[in-house]
Amino acid sequence: MIKVRRFTSTWLMLTLGVSSLLSACSGPTGRALDQPKATGQEIAQQFCSNCHGLDGNSVSPQFPRLAGQQKAYLVNQLTDFKGHERRDSTGREFMWGINHLTNQQVQELAEIFSMMPPMKSHSNSITINTRGENIFLNGDPSHNVIACAACHGPDGSGQGEIPRISGQHQSYLLKQILTFKYTNDRPRGALMQQVTHDLNPDDAKNVAVYIEELNHK
Ligand code: HEC
Ligand code: HEC
Repeated sequence: MIKVRRFTSTWLMLTLGVSSLLSACSGPTGRALDQPKATGQEIAQQFCSNCHGLDGNSVSPQFPRLAGQQKAYLVNQLTDFKGHERRDSTGREFMWGINHLTNQQVQELAEIFSMMPPMKSHSNSITINTRGENIFLNGDPSHNVIACAACHGPDGSGQGEIPRISGQHQSYLLKQILTFKYTNDRPRGALMQQVTHDLNPDDAKNVAVYIEELNHK
C-alpha cells in the first residue's frame, strides 16, 4: 500500500503547515481529518484550499477546479473517494485520505464549492478549437460519439449528477476522458464509457481544449 502511505504524508505535511483547528489534534498517524465537529467551511478553507484554491479555482492543472461544480456531482465524487471506489492513481494518492469525513461534512463541502462563482480558464488568449467545438456541439455520428452538449448543456455547466466541465483545466479533462475510455476506475462512468469508446485520442484533446476555453476570464 505504498500509494496510501504517500498520500498520508502529503496530507500530513499540508495540515501541519497551517495552525488550524484541524491540525490541532493531528497526530503522527495523520488523523487530521478525523474531526467530526469541524464545519465544512473550516475544512474547505484550511485544508481543501491548499490544492483546490480558496476560491475553488485552482491555478495548477494538477488539481481540478471545483468552483460552481454541481452539488449532487460533488457529493457523488466525495462519497466515491471516501469509499475508495474512485480509484485512479491520482485520486488514490490525493483524495483517499478523506475517508474520515462525515456525511454531513460531505454535504456541507459540496454546498460550499457549488455556490462559488464558476470555474474559469486563466489563459490570456482564446483560440477556439473548431474541431473540439464541433464534437462538443454535434458529436461525431460516424464514430458513435454523442454531443457533449446533449448532457453537459450547451454552456457546459452540467446539471445534478452531470458535472460542470466548462472552464475546467484541459489536462484534467483529457485525463478523465481517457480514464473513462480505457479503465473502470470511476464507478459512475458507464455513460462516459459509451461516449468515449470510439472517441480517438486526438479528438479527446481537441474537445478538452475547447471545453476549458468555454468559460474564460
Ligand atoms: C493534497 C492536494 C489535495 C487536497 C488537500 C484535496 N484535494 Fe481534492 N483532488 C486533488 C487531486 C489531485 C484531484 C484529482 C484526482 C483525480 O485525478 O482523480 C482531486 C479531486 C477532487 C474532486 C473531484 C473533482 C472532479 O471534477 O471530479 C473533488 C470533488 C475534490 N477533489 C474535493 C476536495 C475536497 C472537498 C477537499 C477537502 C476535504 C479536497 N479535495 C482536498 C487534490 C487534493
Ligand atoms: C449521455 C450523457 C453524457 C454525454 C453525452 C457526455 N457526458 Fe460527460 N459525463 C456524464 C456524466 C453522467 C458524468 C459523471 C460521471 C461520474 O460521476 O463519474 C460525466 C463526466 C464527464 C467528465 C468528468 C468531469 C470531472 O470533473 O471529472 C468529463 C471530462 C466529461 N464528462 C466530458 C465529456 C465530453 C468531452 C463529452 C462529449 C464528447 C461528454 N462528456 C458527453 C454524462 C455525459
